[in-house]
Amino acid sequence: MRELNVIAIDGPAASGKSTIGRILADELGYLFLDTGCMYRAATLAALQQGVAVTNETAVTTLSHAIEIDIKPPAAEGDGRHYTALLDGQDVTWALRLPEVDTHVSLVSSYAGVRQEMVQRQRRFGLRGKVVMVGRDIGTVVMPDAPLKLYITASAEERARRRWLDRQDQGHSNSFEVILADVQRRDEFDSTRQHSPLHPAPDAIILDTTGRSPQSIINEILALAQAAADLML
Ligand code: CDP
Repeated sequence: MRELNVIAIDGPAASGKSTIGRILADELGYLFLDTGCMYRAATLAALQQGVAVTNETAVTTLSHAIEIDIKPPAAEGDGRHYTALLDGQDVTWALRLPEVDTHVSLVSSYAGVRQEMVQRQRRFGLRGKVVMVGRDIGTVVMPDAPLKLYITASAEERARRRWLDRQDQGHSNSFEVILADVQRRDEFDSTRQHSPLHPAPDAIILDTTGRSPQSIINEILALAQAAADLML
């Protein structure tokens, strides 16, 4: 198959886009970048350093100063799919803490934070053969991507999946609390002023409710083939 330089995947919270993006990248031999973890890292940095998440100027300055590295998982064997380093510290699991879930949408609504993260993401995209997952990849970060997908599912199904993930990670939030968080974040992400969550006009929308990851991967591989054929 001819290579696509970027496959852009966007969608609401816990829609399965990271799972699908990761498997897809593995199958195609592409790099995988989960851009949400960069906004999560900025949020965690603010929480750890006692910077008020409501202080836009301070959070923006901090987001420019931190070093974020995403590396292959090495041999940890604890179920991680990548290792995230924040200023050299392994924060892979800390990025999934409920406090980060609570504050990440506010932090990622700040224009200066987004500008910085988008620049970092574009540099990554320039490497080519990348599957990039987020909220604004097809609309803002990589608007020329030859294949754009928007992956969604019902709020209940998304909350159920997230609840199962968090149980595995040892967190005890109830399904109802997680459903409320997913709905609050979707509302916030979709109505924010800068780069709100919405499908790019040329994105293909995939509803994953009741579908297995593999059936969606198969559909995307066929779409990738069709997009590559168009480039011949
Ligand atoms: O995994 P989940 O879908 O819950 O979240 P995530 O992809 O890790 O993203 C966490 C938050 O970061 C989202 O709720 C958005 O507020 C923000 N985000 C963003 O604004 N733009 C991106 N490209 C990725 C994430």
